[in-house]
Amino acid sequence: MNILNELICGSGYVVTKINDIKKFEQLRKILIKKMNFKYEDIYKVRKKISKMNNAQINKIMINLLSFNNASEMLIESCKNIVKEVSGKTIFLQRRANTIFNLPGINQRRQWPHYELMSGISPFSFVLWAPFHDLDDDGGVFYYKNKDSIKFIKTEQKKGLVNGPQILKLKNKLKPTKLKYGDVIIFNPFILHGNNDFNSNLARIACSVRFQSTSKPIMQKNSDFFKFYKLS
Ligand SMILES: [Fe+2]
Repeated sequence: MNILNELICGSGYVVTKINDIKKFEQLRKILIKKMNFKYEDIYKVRKKISKMNNAQINKIMINLLSFNNASEMLIESCKNIVKEVSGKTIFLQRRANTIFNLPGINQRRQWPHYELMSGISPFSFVLWAPFHDLDDDGGVFYYKNKDSIKFIKTEQKKGLVNGPQILKLKNKLKPTKLKYGDVIIFNPFILHGNNDFNSNLARIACSVRFQSTSKPIMQKNSDFFKFYKLS
C-alpha cells in the first residue's frame, strides 16, 4: 500500500506496524519509569491509573516533562513510515504527548477534534501508538477523509473551528482496534476522538506530529517544531 496516497486521497488514515518495536518498547519502559511506578508491568500500570483522580494524573504528566527525548524515540521507531510520507528531513513536534484515557462516563478523554484546529499545517501528519493492545472500546474513532471534510465545511459556513457541533458530536463510530506494536498515522483533517468506555484499565498511548521541511509551516512554528533528520 502507498501510505502517502492513502493519507491524502484515501481514507486519510493508515494502521501499520511500528518499524522498530525494540525502540518503542524502550520508550514505553522509560516513560513508565518517569511516571514513578516501581514496576514495568503495563497491566498493573493501567490498573493503577484507572483509579487515579485528575490531580494524580497531572502529577504523572509533570513527571513526564523531565524526559526530553520521547518525540525522537517515537519518530525513530516509525522511521520508514515517516520517510515514506515526509522524507528524511522533517519538522518534528518538540514534545511527543503521552495520553491517558480513563474508563467510565464523563471521565478524562479526548473530545472530538481535528488536529488542524491547533494551528499545525495541512501538510503535517500525526503518529499515534498505544502502549498495549486495545481490547476494549478505549481506542480512538476516526472519520474518513470525505466525512471529516463535510464537518469542516459545515463549520466553515458558520465561521467556526471545533465549535459546538463537533464538541457535542454524538459519535456512532466504534474505535479502531489496534494491537501493541501497531501505529496509526493520519492527516490533520481527520475528525477523531474517544467514546466513554467500560473497563477496569486505563488506556495509555503516545503521539507525535511532524511534516516535511519542504512544506510550509503555518501557525505552529519553531516554538512547536524543531528541525530533525531521521537516522
Ligand atoms: Fe488528536
